[in-house]
Order: sequence, then structure tokens, then C-alpha cells
Amino acid sequence: MSIIDLRSDTVTKPSFEMRRAMAEAEVGDDVYQEDPTVIKLEQLAAEITGQEAALFVCSGTMGNIVSLLTHCNRGDGVILGYKSHIYVNEGGGLSALGGLVPLCVNDGDGIPKPEEVLSFCRPENVHYAPAKLLCLENTHNACGGVAISPEDFSSMVSLARNRGLSVHLDGARIFNAAIAWGVEPIVYTESVDSVQFCLSKGLGTPIGSLICGSKDYIRRARHWRKRVGGGLRQAGVIAAAGIIALRNYPDLRHDHEKAKILKDRLTSEGVKVVEVSKPTNMVYFDVESSVDEALLAEKCRQRGVLFNPTPEKIRLVTHRGVSFEDVEKAAKVIAEELCRLR
Ligand SMILES: Cc1ncc(COP(=O)(O)O)c(C=O)c1O
Repeated sequence: MSIIDLRSDTVTKPSFEMRRAMAEAEVGDDVYQEDPTVIKLEQLAAEITGQEAALFVCSGTMGNIVSLLTHCNRGDGVILGYKSHIYVNEGGGLSALGGLVPLCVNDGDGIPKPEEVLSFCRPENVHYAPAKLLCLENTHNACGGVAISPEDFSSMVSLARNRGLSVHLDGARIFNAAIAWGVEPIVYTESVDSVQFCLSKGLGTPIGSLICGSKDYIRRARHWRKRVGGGLRQAGVIAAAGIIALRNYPDLRHDHEKAKILKDRLTSEGVKVVEVSKPTNMVYFDVESSVDEALLAEKCRQRGVLFNPTPEKIRLVTHRGVSFEDVEKAAKVIAEELCRLR
């Protein structure tokens, strides 16, 4: 039985072209900044994001924590969404490792509410953790994979900057956002103080993310990367796959097309799909409280369709490891099993 794995775009495997590039990569010791392939990848990332410099890190989580630690000191406040990946899904690293205080705002539409951000921009006062940084996420994973518009994004960045906040973008899937709005990624990434993006989601490399920012910022981030154990040696072996991934990023549009078909088929089968203003490669659907999500996931798994059974909404993620036919089949299986469990 062939498996249709819709759990995440992180399940993608490196292409033949990537594996060949990895095998042939020229390498050196990257802690000494002597790995030519890592240097090439970092230069490419800086160019694409419109930033001065970039730093290769092991994962999106490492990219985010290193960024936060570089921006803030212990006791500083970080404004971020209740639903943001940094707040919900990164093990509380900002507090555990950085002594940082999460100042949470409503980001139910994928972007923080301006008035809530402003409510944390308070005059200096010994009672408050001073807000130093605003974190944005685009696309926003927990909000249906929504791509934030360039206009909304840039007005939020300006609002924060005008209040003296630095801005970090968790752009794990920033290329998906850019494709959804038909713009270059630089439209989002040039204006922020730092951006982290992932190579190992829809882009399909086995490992890695990049942090981009000013030269001075990246110099300081390099120190934090070392402190958290992220200084790698012959990392060119993995960076080589990243260079291929960045060249091919426009291919992500196919993942959006597959998600659209998946959504349309599920909807026509009567499944309650969550509407998203600018969808990308994710489809969320609701199940009635009478349906056991774990049982639904298990029934579908037995028929070769994988997704994670989460309470509330169930997420399906398209990627290059699933075909157009696969998503048609998956929609049918999910709708049938849901119907049986009702
Ligand atoms: C929005 C977002 N940020 C950060 C991450 C963390 O990336 P990683 O799994 O590489 O640590 C993820 C992972 O799914 C994510 O969805």
C-alpha cells in the first residue's frame, strides 16, 4: 500500500539532485568559517532576503532561539502571538534558555492585533518587563497556513519600529507566503531586523535553516549559535542541498495547487474545511465533538493516509512527496472514514 503522508512538509526527502550535490560538496570547518559551501549558501540567503549577512543553523527552532537571544537580554519582553510557533511549539525555549518574558497578543488572523502590540509599548517602569522585540510568523502555521499580505505585514513592521521595537520574522515558510501573494520574498524580509527561514520543510532538504540580518547582528548570532551547540564543522555536506532548494523554491506553488484540490474535494464531500483568507500548503478541517480524532486518524492510517490527530482542528499539509492523485485519494478516504464515525 502506498502511503500518503499529510502530517507535515517536514517529511519531504532530499531529491536526487540534492543528494548528488551533497556528495560532491566542497567542505571545510565552518566554525573557522572555512566551509565554502556554507559560505555560498549564506551569501545566497542574504541576497534573497535583502539582508547584509546570513548564518546557517540546524533547525527553525534553533534559528528562532538564536535570534531571540541575540536581540534580547534576560528579563526583556518579547511580544508574540498566542498561536505562534515560538510561543506554543518550541519548548518554552525563550524563557528556559533566555530568561525572556513572552508578552502574548491575539494573532488569531495570523498577525498580531495592532492595539494589543501597542498596549505592551509602555513607558519605562520598574514593574514591567521592557518590550524589546516583536515576533511575526509568515506563513502562520496554526492559523491555517495563512500568508499575510505584504501591506499588513509592512504596516505591522512600521508600527513596531516606530515604537522602538526590533522585529524578528519566523519565516519558516516565507517562500510559501511570497508565492501565495505573487511577490519576491524580499518584500517581507528586507524590512525586518532578523528573519529565520527553513530549508527542511517544503523546500525538502534534510536539515537546516538560515538566520539573516545585518553584519553586526549575524556576528553576535554566531556567538549564540556556538553557545547553544550549533557550531558545525563540515556542514557544507548539508548546505549543498540548501543551495539547490533555494534555486527551486518557485516549485512550492505546486504544493499550494494540491492543497486547493484537497480543500475543494473535502468540501464537496461535506467535510467542514476551515476557510483561510490566503491559503498556502495547509488545509485544516473541523470534526464534530462526537468524533474521536485519534480513531479517525487511525482508520485513515490503515488505508494509507497519514495525518496527526489533534483536538479541535485537524491539519493536512501538502508537499512534493504527495501527488495530485494522492490528494484526491486522501480526500475520499478522509470523507468516507469521517462519515462512518459520525
Ligand atoms: C512556523 C514555524 N516556525 C518554526 C518551526 C521550527 O522548525 P524546526 O522543526 O526546523 O525546528 C516550525 C516547524 O514546523 C514552524 O512551523
